[in-house]
Amino acid sequence: MTEPSLQQQFDEKVASEIAIEPRDWMPDDYRKTLIRQISQHAHSEIVGMLPEGNWITRAPSLRRKAVLLAKVQDEGGHGLYLYSAAETLGISRDEMIEQLHSGKAKYSSIFNYPTLTWADMGAIGWLVDGAAIMNQVPLCRTSYGAYATAMLKVCKEESFHQRQGYDLLIQMCRHGTPEQKAMCQDALNRWWWPSIMMFGPPDADSPHTQQSMEWRIKRFTNDELRQKFIDVTVEQARLIGLTVPDPDLKWNEATGHYDYGKIDWEEFWNVVKGNGPCNKQRLETRKKAWENGAWVREAASAYAGKRRQRQQEKNAAAEAAAA
Ligand code: 3HC
Repeated sequence: MTEPSLQQQFDEKVASEIAIEPRDWMPDDYRKTLIRQISQHAHSEIVGMLPEGNWITRAPSLRRKAVLLAKVQDEGGHGLYLYSAAETLGISRDEMIEQLHSGKAKYSSIFNYPTLTWADMGAIGWLVDGAAIMNQVPLCRTSYGAYATAMLKVCKEESFHQRQGYDLLIQMCRHGTPEQKAMCQDALNRWWWPSIMMFGPPDADSPHTQQSMEWRIKRFTNDELRQKFIDVTVEQARLIGLTVPDPDLKWNEATGHYDYGKIDWEEFWNVVKGNGPCNKQRLETRKKAWENGAWVREAASAYAGKRRQRQQEKNAAAEAAAA
């Protein structure tokens, strides 16, 4: 019997839910898809710090400031886990950063919208992190082990992100002034449609979904996750007395899901192509942060070099003494 080919071994592993690890053989296209998805996921986390970072100094109380600070810091950590997971596939951090800064790599379209009021902090936690959870929980079972491991930690923190956002809106909607309630409704009106676009284009227009499902990188399609998110979130909006800005939203007894209105895919692709309200500002801010942080990276690598040098000298001295 011939040795099962490497491809056969790979296929058998994926089919039997055995994680593919960095040192395992994998098809080049599988590797490329993972580098694309994981690096863009990492970019989304890092760029995703900017809209909320904008409000840390303007939080209405010390408690709210501390919560928002913790959340934004978490996102930075998520980016680092994901950059490290992508590096296990053979791409360097510098390459990924260059792809982001040159516009070659994408990040989630949602982060190209402005955060106009404090209620946006609630809407982002509730909707954006809520959508992220819907998309990331299945990724805890993605076929690439390093990605699944990163997701386990990310998802634990993501639940706090979603809860703190929804809690902020509960306070304003239930215990705030009518103006504050109106502020929350305005935030929902602006963030609802971009949040459901986060799940990606409709399955029929998604070039990657089918293959990613076969490789068990994705466990659900874009439309399946979008539907799950809508079904859960519409109820949450009702609970705090907010109205989802979709006149076609209607519970469908037969399907057990909400029917919803047409998504403006022209807006989506326009934002993805770089013409959203904040695309230029977001990338400029990231490039400036990268330049301003160069001295930290240089100092850290110089320090690591010195430590390696000292360790090597120590090892050489120990070997000489033992000889
Ligand atoms: N924003 C920008 N680009 C998007 C997009 C979005 N919301 N949705 C899809 N696209 C891009 C894809 O990247 C792809 O372009 P590419 O070939 O140049 O990469 C193209 O549109 C076609 O989309 P597909 O659906 O075929 O692509 P995927 O199979 O990769 O599915 C995805 C898209 C569902 C976003 C998938 O990549 C995924 O699950 N990624 C991991 C999760 C992720 O990145 N989430 C982003 C938000 S992270 C976040 O919110 C952090 C939170 O803490 C705030």
